[in-house]
Parts: sequence; C-alpha cells; structure tokens
Amino acid sequence: MRTPIRTRLLVAFLLVAVTSAAGLSYYFLQELESFALRKLEERLHTQSRLIAELVSSAYLAEGDSAISRGESDEIARALQAAGPDIISRIRLLDGRGVAIVDSAGPDGVDVDYSHLPEVEKALAGGYGAATRAIDDGRVGIYIAEPVLADGIIVGVTYSSASTFSILTLLDAYRLRLVVVVVLFIIVTLVITEVLARWLSRPLRELSDAASAFAGGDHAVRATPMGSRETRQVAEALNAMADEVERMLVELREEERAKTRFVSDVSHELRTPLTAVRGAAETLLDGDVPEDEARRFLETIVRESERLSRLANDLLTLQRIEGATGELPLRRVSLKVIAERAVEGLQPLLDIRETTAVVIGESPAVLGDPDRLQQVVGNLIDNASRLSPSGSVVHVELAAENGQAIVRITDEGPGIPEDALPHLFDRFFRAQPSRDRLSGGAGLGLAIVSAIVKAHAGTIEAANRAEGGSVFTLRLPALHDEP
Ligand SMILES: Nc1ncnc2c1ncn2[C@@H]1O[C@H](COP(=O)(O)OP(=O)(O)OP(=O)(O)O)[C@@H](O)[C@H]1O
Ligand SMILES: [Mg+2]
Repeated sequence: MRTPIRTRLLVAFLLVAVTSAAGLSYYFLQELESFALRKLEERLHTQSRLIAELVSSAYLAEGDSAISRGESDEIARALQAAGPDIISRIRLLDGRGVAIVDSAGPDGVDVDYSHLPEVEKALAGGYGAATRAIDDGRVGIYIAEPVLADGIIVGVTYSSASTFSILTLLDAYRLRLVVVVVLFIIVTLVITEVLARWLSRPLRELSDAASAFAGGDHAVRATPMGSRETRQVAEALNAMADEVERMLVELREEERAKTRFVSDVSHELRTPLTAVRGAAETLLDGDVPEDEARRFLETIVRESERLSRLANDLLTLQRIEGATGELPLRRVSLKVIAERAVEGLQPLLDIRETTAVVIGESPAVLGDPDRLQQVVGNLIDNASRLSPSGSVVHVELAAENGQAIVRITDEGPGIPEDALPHLFDRFFRAQPSRDRLSGGAGLGLAIVSAIVKAHAGTIEAANRAEGGSVFTLRLPALHDEP
C-alpha cells in the first residue's frame, strides 16, 4: 500500500506552511530589529550632539583646551540628576578617550575607551557609531560625538543604549510562540483533512465502483464528480463497463446458442439412427417375410438419406456463416433463378400435386446463383409441402425502392403468430409433430437467412390476410452501367 493522498497532502502542506511562516517571520523580525536600531541611533545621536554642544558652550571658555575636574563633577551631577529620565548611559571622555564623567556612576570614570573604533572616529573629528551584541542577547548601540572648542577636539560624548534583538524577542515570547505554532499545526491538519477528503472522495468512489465491478457486480457504475480529470476517469470507466457488460451478454448468448445447437443436432440424429438401427436389427433376426423385409430396407434407405441431407445442410450453414464475403458474386437474373428452382422441384411438386408459377420482373442482383437458387428453392419447398393439394405457390418478382424483390406466397395454413420471430432459427419447426413427419429438420430457413445475410439482403415472413403465408426476400438491385 503506497502513501495515501492525505499523508502526501499533509507533508506538502506542512512544508509550504512552515517554510513560508518561518521565512516571513524571520524577515519581519529582521525588519523590526533594524527599525528599532535606527530609531534608537537617531535618538542617541541627537542626545550626544546636544550634550556635546552644551559642554562646549557652557564649560569651555575661550582658549580652554580641556575640561577641568570641577567642571566634570558639575556635569556628572547634572547627568545623575536627570538619570532616571534618560534612556541611555552617557559618558564624557577627555581628548585621549578616557572617561571623566559617567552617568552610570563614579565606577565608570577613568576607563579608557580609546581603542573602540567609534571612539577613535570621534577623536578624529567624525561621527562614530557601532552596534554589538551584549551578554543578555540584546543589541547594544554606541554613539560617539566629538566635543569641540574653537574647532579643536577636546573630548567625546559617548552614549550607549540597548534594545531587543530577534533572540530576546523569541525568548520573551517563547510560550506564546509555542501556542501559536501548535495552533498553526492544528489549523494545517484540519485544512489538510478537509482537503484530502474533498480531493480523494471522487477517487475513492471510483475505486469502489471498479472493485465492485471486478467483484462481479456488472450493473455498478461510477458517478462522475470532482475535478475534470476524475470525471473523465469515471466516464471512461463507465464506457469500459458498458463495453464489458455488452461483451459478457454476447458471450453468454453465444455459449447458450452453442449448447442448444449441439443438443439440437444430437436430437436430430437420434430419430433417423434409431429407425435405421431398429430396421437393421429386425432384418438381422431373420425370419422376416419378403415384403416386410423390403419395407425395412426402404426405411433404412430413407432414414440414411435424411441423415446425409442433415449433414449436408449443417455443412452448408457452417460454410456460409463461416465465410467472410467469399461468395463468388456475379450478375444474376432472379427470374432465371426462380425458374430453375421451380424446375428443380418439379418432381416434388408433382408428388404433392401443387403448382408453382413465376410472375413479374425484377432488376438483376449481384450474387452467387447456386446459393440464391437454394434460397428460392427452400422457400418454394416449404410453401408447397405445407399447402393442400391442388393449390398454387406464387413466386412474384418486383422492384421496390431500388431493391429486387422475390415474394413467395402459398395457400397453406399460415404461420402461428408466436412462431414468427423464431422461424429462421436453426432446427425450428412451427408445428414439430406435423413438420417432422414431413421430413424437415428445421434447417431450411436458417440456411435461407444465412445466404440472404451474406448477400446484404433481408428476408421476412408474414401471414396473408386471405390465408396462407408470404415470404419476402429483398436484395440490393444491381444498377446497370449507363
Ligand atoms: N410457407 C410456410 N407456411 C407455414 N409454415 C411454414 C412455411 N415455411 C416454413 N414454415 C414453418 O417454419 C418451419 C421451419 O422451416 P424450415 O424450412 O426451416 O424447416 P423445415 O422445412 O421444417 O425443414 P427443412 O427445411 O430443414 O427440411 C417449418 O417447420 C414450418 O413449421
Ligand atoms: Mg424447409
């Protein structure tokens, strides 16, 4: 089992969320820190300048090149008096960079600051500024400004203050930060869960439908939903399911047809074989009068003829249905075909005391003359066999809607309504007892139907209002080349 969509989403989401949150936070904290530093520097700078100016104008008289002890004590007192109100520590350094006044107290006096770069700058007459991290994680800022007397540097005001750093901020807000991060993760989890459900629901449905189908429930279909892609998958799946279902139905139908065919064939074989065997056994027993023996022999001949006719018919059917457009086609006149069929059946028609007449004209068709003669012959055979003696079978030729028509009508009993849909099935007899007696196996019309199909034509049976039945054969007419 691979990682589910939810886990993948969660990982992706957390990655995006954490990196962007951390990046943004770091950027804004950085901005905040430098903003605070800038503001503080401005204030320290102003303050340092102010004090430098004050010292210069209040204490340094004409030609004075240093601040005296008394003056420094006075300045120290003033700074200490203001002490709690000033935001920074202020030192006054002499011309060598050594502290003579410190707002933090007398301990800071006499400390040498001359090595610090910002102090060095101020001693050289410039503006010195520096930031340094101090022990408690805060950021210290240092501003040095020269004190001038008549353009000569006599000292330096040195101010410093500290402000928060990113580290001190994070430290101070640690608890709140933990709460925010936890909340953040919870919100991400919730969003991921919702999103994962939303995104994976159509996929889950699809997989459920596919599994159900694979499990044998062929009626199940997926409901197209969700994104365009999942909809397309669902539609494709449904199309596939339809196709598979259709194929299964066809396969089952084919299977049933095969089984029926085999049992039909064996059933058809049994009757003549039983008759032949019975007759042969009786003859073998001996002691059969001459004329009776003759009757048995006739039975054997008749039944074996029936068997070979059956074998021939089955072979014909198999050939026609198995062949794929391999009929030897040529231009055929249906009139000639019909006349030949009647001629071939004349002995039978005579025995049955029926007549067959060919009337009308029809366009020529493209076809296999022998097969087409078999079609017309089978139809005339059925019609005459089932008609009363003295009746006429009409073979009528016509043209309709660009088709060549052969219509065979009889004056027989007609076809039972419920038999009509099955008439062209193999081994189908509308009235089994009557039809079997007349010797048919029920293959004639199946052969007709197969041949007609191979000629791209149609055949249809109906009862006539005036009695008897009508078989209508339609074939594509061959249009004469101009
Ligand atoms: N003109 C017709 N009038 C009434 N019933 C018919 C007619 N033609 C066919 N049938 C019915 O249709 C059945 C099937 O005909 P089909 O020609 O396939 O078989 P068959 O004539 O019984 O046997 P076979 O043709 O194999 O010798 C017949 O048994 C018969 O019941
Ligand atoms: Mg027949």
